[in-house]
Amino acid sequence: MTTVLSAVTAPEGVERAIVPPFGVISGAQVQGALQGQEKEILELVEATYRLHGAGDSVNPPSYFLRFPDRPSARIIALPASIGGPTRVDGLKWISSFPENVAAGVPRASAVLILNDHGTGYPFACLEASIISATRTAASAALAVAWLSRGRPRPMRIGFVGVGLIARYIHTFLTGTGWSFDEIGIHDLSADSAAGFRGFLDQLGTAGRVTVHDSAENLIRSSDLVVFATVAAEPHVSDPSWFQHNPLVLHVSLRDLAPEILLGSTNVVDDVEHCLKANTSPHLAEQLTGNRDFLLGTLDDVMAGRVTVPTDRPLVFSPFGLGVLDLAVGKYVYDKVVSSGDLHIIDDFFHELRRHG
Ligand SMILES: NC(=O)c1ccc[n+]([C@@H]2O[C@H](COP(=O)([O-])OP(=O)(O)OC[C@H]3O[C@@H](n4cnc5c(N)ncnc54)[C@H](O)[C@@H]3O)[C@@H](O)[C@H]2O)c1
Repeated sequence: MTTVLSAVTAPEGVERAIVPPFGVISGAQVQGALQGQEKEILELVEATYRLHGAGDSVNPPSYFLRFPDRPSARIIALPASIGGPTRVDGLKWISSFPENVAAGVPRASAVLILNDHGTGYPFACLEASIISATRTAASAALAVAWLSRGRPRPMRIGFVGVGLIARYIHTFLTGTGWSFDEIGIHDLSADSAAGFRGFLDQLGTAGRVTVHDSAENLIRSSDLVVFATVAAEPHVSDPSWFQHNPLVLHVSLRDLAPEILLGSTNVVDDVEHCLKANTSPHLAEQLTGNRDFLLGTLDDVMAGRVTVPTDRPLVFSPFGLGVLDLAVGKYVYDKVVSSGDLHIIDDFFHELRRHG
């Protein structure tokens, strides 16, 4: 930390530690810092995956808080620590309440706490639903950049489930140079499909937009398929829908039956994370009793440790890593600090003399 609010001084006058100021960063500030920065964020996410792959991070399993009285809801804690030039620790605390959507507010809400590397003191609380959607979309666009190599450039994209995450993924793909002749939409909710179509119309998207009434039609007519539903268990199970070997971004993790994965090449972001919590890769592991169906991680692909076959469907299943939230959150924090707009809560840490 470079900024100093208060030096904690022991009674005898010996300086013991430096406590950083505690800042709060609103969603509007987060959005302002990230808007239009797709290429830079993609590079940041790539560098963070490489750092994580090299072991310069701590990223324990996410902790899922679930409620007997609200079975569709959950709040997940993602603690992490990142080394490299960023050197920051922290926690994303993210709620998923799918019923919110019917009430007109987004499903997910979140905060990100950043902790100082030197003292452990939390030094910032950021609105994090935008950070989370941004790092997810950046990771998806990064996967397309690496996994589409050696394949025909995808020109027909199809989205299964078109909420906030689908919108961010579309923004990141177009912001990093992709354009599509055809954009397919399939959603169980006609309102969601219409909302996403309206978003594309507003952008003035050049490609032809089609709303499909079945996932089968959409998948068969797309060479890049994005799953961003809230399905709790597989609803796509026929491998023949994938016989044209599409690239599949399986962002919502639980849409595909194990049979689909077993007929595909599978890349994940982190093996231990992804094979948990009844994700489709977890179901495939339970069915086969092994992990042979996994090719490796996206970092393995980027580092050239594995070669991706082009004659099978290719499924990327990213569990979503806390280190990505930290990297993007610290990027936002640094930008807000350098603009002079950090809202500091004076005296947030107040009891700073151990013996009064
Ligand atoms: N892997 C990651 O890193 C990561 C990160 C963030 C979010 N996610 C996941 O992305 C998903 C989407 O998040 P969101 O915020 O956009 O949610 P959202 O609620 O805004 O949108 C989800 C959409 O999926 C639709 N849907 C649900 N089941 C469907 C089905 N079987 N077929 C077609 N459409 C269906 C819903 O009608 C809704 O419109 C969630 O599952 C979330 O957990 C993953």
